[in-house]
Amino acid sequence: MLIRHAPRYRSSEITPEAVYLSRRAFMAGAAALTLLPGEADAAPPPPVDRLPPLKAAPHPTYRHTDPVTKIESAVTYNNFYEFGVDKEDPSRNAGTLRPRPWNVVVEGLVRKPKTFDIDELLKIAPLEERIYSLRCVEGWSMIIPWIGVPLSALLKRVEPTGNAKYVEFYTLVDPEQMPAQKKGLFSWSSLDWPYVEGLRLDEAQHPLTLLTAGMYGRVLPNQNGAPVRVVIPWKYGFKSAKSIVKIRLVADEPKTAWNKAQPNEYGFYSNVNPTVPHPRWSQATERRIGEFRRRETKMFNGYGEVASLYSGMDLKKFI
Ligand code: MTE
Repeated sequence: MLIRHAPRYRSSEITPEAVYLSRRAFMAGAAALTLLPGEADAAPPPPVDRLPPLKAAPHPTYRHTDPVTKIESAVTYNNFYEFGVDKEDPSRNAGTLRPRPWNVVVEGLVRKPKTFDIDELLKIAPLEERIYSLRCVEGWSMIIPWIGVPLSALLKRVEPTGNAKYVEFYTLVDPEQMPAQKKGLFSWSSLDWPYVEGLRLDEAQHPLTLLTAGMYGRVLPNQNGAPVRVVIPWKYGFKSAKSIVKIRLVADEPKTAWNKAQPNEYGFYSNVNPTVPHPRWSQATERRIGEFRRRETKMFNGYGEVASLYSGMDLKKFI
């Protein structure tokens, strides 16, 4: 993945090689985007203070002792490769995403498959505000007040069968809404669309896993994954797929987008683990956005209550 602002590393050291080597092609593609007739559709998303408010009860225990990251940073420093590879690209280009109307299909190994309209989906349980730390695999972190419902409430509703062992999350594929999915113009990307992520069923059912529709008291900005994403705070941020249109329960471990692109760098589990370096950089410390000095990274990003999910597993092997 690309890091632009981390001063310790050059982007060539930490960007997947395929992305780095084809950056010039990307630049050419980006230039073409502004030049080609009909392609001038990359537009900035609505200002966050104009997004509809979303009411939620503050969760009594899922708070954070560190100060919340400034909203200006959380909505302008993003990874959302469907809108470009630079951190500012999503906040510049995600205006083409139409988060309403929106359906999420929940299917696969379930007794009650169902297509949920987004507003119906958010009524499956009372909305909660939870302040979580987000630790990106690139070595930066933020503290974000998310709004959502436990994913477990949705899973319970569709009744997984005994054969369901994993959950897959699929992001929208629509090159008109997500301009960086346009083939040809953006052949730079090493990612296959759709962006697919996955969890083991027990991870998906863990109380911390949040089906997320808002942040900072409002609906999700497009660049943060409107209208619905997951947030799994003990895993590196790339596990938290954005703008989800399909959730599928399956028997076998899913083939996920970053794992397919760089299998030696991005494992299926991707639990935050300061003792396992990324092949190209250490994971022992992180740069909190808005701070100057690096902090120590905590095991499971500080969410030690998930450790029992992995008892008996060698977390240096199952990365
Ligand atoms: N989901 C999709 N569909 N596409 C992406 O490129 N990037 C991931 C994750 N979800 C990504 C995605 C990464 S690398 C991170 S760190 C988080 O989104 C960033 O979420 P944020 O922009 O809300 O901070």
